[in-house]
Amino acid sequence: MAKEKIKAKILRFDPDKDKQPYFQDYDIDVNGPVSISELLALIRRNIDSTLAFRTYKCYKGSCQTCVVRYNGKVVKACATQIMPNSEITLEPAAGGKVVRDLVVDFAAM
Ligand code: FES
Repeated sequence: MAKEKIKAKILRFDPDKDKQPYFQDYDIDVNGPVSISELLALIRRNIDSTLAFRTYKCYKGSCQTCVVRYNGKVVKACATQIMPNSEITLEPAAGGKVVRDLVVDFAAM
């Protein structure tokens, strides 16, 4: 059983339903450090199946499919580790059109 938590504030937006983006808070049980990609997968699997994010392609930090804004900085989600008991903010990366939540279409600008 997980004894540690990460608190994540994630910007949500579904253009079909929402007038404005809004932040949603999650408390995620973890067993040690996790990558942002792993954290998002834990949320979707255990807490909220509606959260949209790009699932990784290479998982080696080379394709950049997984980029998100983490505490204001653009990072590769698969290559960025989060320590237990952290409080983080995740937003879609700038530079494209938000399709839903953390999914950005970089070709649509
Ligand atoms: S999945 Fe390729 S850089 Fe993250």
